[in-house]
Amino acid sequence: MSSAGASSRYPQTYAAWQHDPEAYWAEAAEAIAWDRRWDRVFDPTKGAFGQYFVGGMMNTCFNALDRHVLAGRGEQAALIWDSPMAGRCETFTYREMRDRTARVAGALASLGVRQGDRVVIYMPMVPEAAITMLACARLGAIHSVVFGGFAAAELAKRIEDAQPRVIVSASCGLEPGRVVGYKPLLDAAIGISAHKPEACLILQREQALAPLIAGRDCDFAEAEAAAMPADPVSIPATDPLYILYTSGTTGRPKGIVRDAGGHAVALHRSMGMVYGLGAGDVFWTASDVGWVVGHSYIVYAPLLAGCTSVMYEGKPVGTPDAGAFWRVCAQHGVRVLFTAPTALRAIKQQDPEATMLARHDMSKLEALYLAGERCDPPTAIWAAEKLARPVVDHWWQTETGWPITAGFRGLGLFPAKPGTGGRPAPGYDVQALDDSGHALARTQTGNLAIRLPLPPGCAPTLWQDEAGYRHAYLDDFPGWYRTGDAGVVDADGDVSVMGRTDDIINVAGHRLSTGAMEEVLASHPAVAECAVVGAKDALKGQAPLGLVVLKAGVALDPRTVETELVALVRERIGPVAAFKDARVVARLPKTRSGKILRASIRRLADGEPAAPPPTIDDPAILDEISAVLALR
Ligand code: COA
Ligand code: AMP
Repeated sequence: MSSAGASSRYPQTYAAWQHDPEAYWAEAAEAIAWDRRWDRVFDPTKGAFGQYFVGGMMNTCFNALDRHVLAGRGEQAALIWDSPMAGRCETFTYREMRDRTARVAGALASLGVRQGDRVVIYMPMVPEAAITMLACARLGAIHSVVFGGFAAAELAKRIEDAQPRVIVSASCGLEPGRVVGYKPLLDAAIGISAHKPEACLILQREQALAPLIAGRDCDFAEAEAAAMPADPVSIPATDPLYILYTSGTTGRPKGIVRDAGGHAVALHRSMGMVYGLGAGDVFWTASDVGWVVGHSYIVYAPLLAGCTSVMYEGKPVGTPDAGAFWRVCAQHGVRVLFTAPTALRAIKQQDPEATMLARHDMSKLEALYLAGERCDPPTAIWAAEKLARPVVDHWWQTETGWPITAGFRGLGLFPAKPGTGGRPAPGYDVQALDDSGHALARTQTGNLAIRLPLPPGCAPTLWQDEAGYRHAYLDDFPGWYRTGDAGVVDADGDVSVMGRTDDIINVAGHRLSTGAMEEVLASHPAVAECAVVGAKDALKGQAPLGLVVLKAGVALDPRTVETELVALVRERIGPVAAFKDARVVARLPKTRSGKILRASIRRLADGEPAAPPPTIDDPAILDEISAVLALR
């Protein structure tokens, strides 16, 4: 059980933040090297809800790398790349990381990249992905990493929106049983996009070399070798460090912006406060640099704090077996592991007794943190029993960039109360609101919201879409940030997150838009209308299920259409959508005003009783849908 008793510093730390947020964040900011100190810790007159460290000048890459070298930690491991996919394991010291990053920054600069320019990074889990992110930060350029499991059309949307001067990619990624050609996807995406980059920097991997396009493409290794190292560029703390696109409720992804100064302060603070780690400690986040978890806890936070970060190119199972995570923890002396519940479910499915655990020396591991999706209690209990270590669920999202709620190793409020996502981190005032925006009493479930202003590190805006930011997050509940999650704050103040209140689903910890999938299904010439919902999945938490009604007079075999629809979503959105189940139905359940009753479909798919809502047009349709779903 969590304890906020005498030994916990959580209550006083949270109270100190509540009492004087500016003093709290000013103190946290002392951990960062500033080229110019801020004029104001927080200026409420700027931006959508205010801005942090206004007037301050700094460089995130300097703070993540150079600073540690200058402090005498140059020979300490900064990054351990462990790739069962490539059969390689390499360690990079802080000095090596700084030197490579400075040269890659020089290579980008020689391609014309300057402060404020965008660079899209479409790479697998290779060290060069982290190095390129840091190289952009070094130049004050804004990176936008796109997850490798997205298809060319999704990459194209992000290229069009971010308008990068340069794109950095690799010849291929490595997935179990197949080599994924990244370069052909990149070429296709550039073909689709109205915006064309001036140059592409391509990392050639030996598993599949890619032909380079003369006049546009350069070889990453050659460019790095030929480059002059570039020095860090001091940028305003309020300038963007990166854009990370995430799923919204439509097919158009949202460009989440992260400002440099607040991000560095908040992430550095989180390493000690949440995970209880500091310089020299080994931290492993088993995610992908294409997600916010990878941005924050594979790359930026551990390096800002001087930790050793493990970057893993592999899966929890099958590379080679369900003991892979334990092998990595033992081999590298991991003190804290952070992963998604799906990874644990995959391990538990294949090795329910955790026999593989006994084969590895787990003595260094102190805790397991989980996030990305709701963790089902049986999985959390299984992990805690087998590992005999605290398992901590913590809740956050791309927009916030760091945990909203957690158990705090560094404050002695640890682990989080089982079944909850823990307490709000200092900086966040979390409440459940009713649909009119009134705060609910504790223990009542509602819309989880964060009182404005958000703390440093949280997205101040959407890329070139401040109105969209206000509309998506601030307009519904004035004075609050709408998280899009439903949940409850209990009598102790612990927060439980139940699920989304919008059309976003979470598949294997990956955030996906059902609206985007519906757009793809609706584009099929045989489809009249459709609905996609997230149905419960024993492994991935949720899996998309698509129901489609065919146009009158379509003579195609429904099975053929279903197969085509699965292929279409894979082609347009990518394999990450994991869209494998499309069903042709005669009708969709609707309200009398014509709104599709997606919640009823989801309940039927989950095998829950779906009493017809009073607004339903024709209750008999639910029985028809049940009959079709029973064929699964
Ligand atoms: N590049 C190209 N393709 C990718 C990819 C990448 N970076 N990442 C995933 N894919 C593909 C996979 O190969 C798979 O393709 P397939 O349909 O041909 O098999 C598809 O996208 C779905 O991938 P994934 O969700 O990883 O499912 P999986 O069935 O391959 O593996 C698990 C199942 C449980 C092992 C896997 O989902 C997993 O490791 N989950 C942990 C999730 C996680 O860490 N999330 C981070 C969020 S914090
Ligand atoms: P992403 O932006 O991809 O990180 O996804 C964020 C969403 O994932 C949140 O809004 C939640 O819906 C869900 N999520 C993340 N962490 C948790 C958690 N610990 N418990 C429940 N849901 C979570």
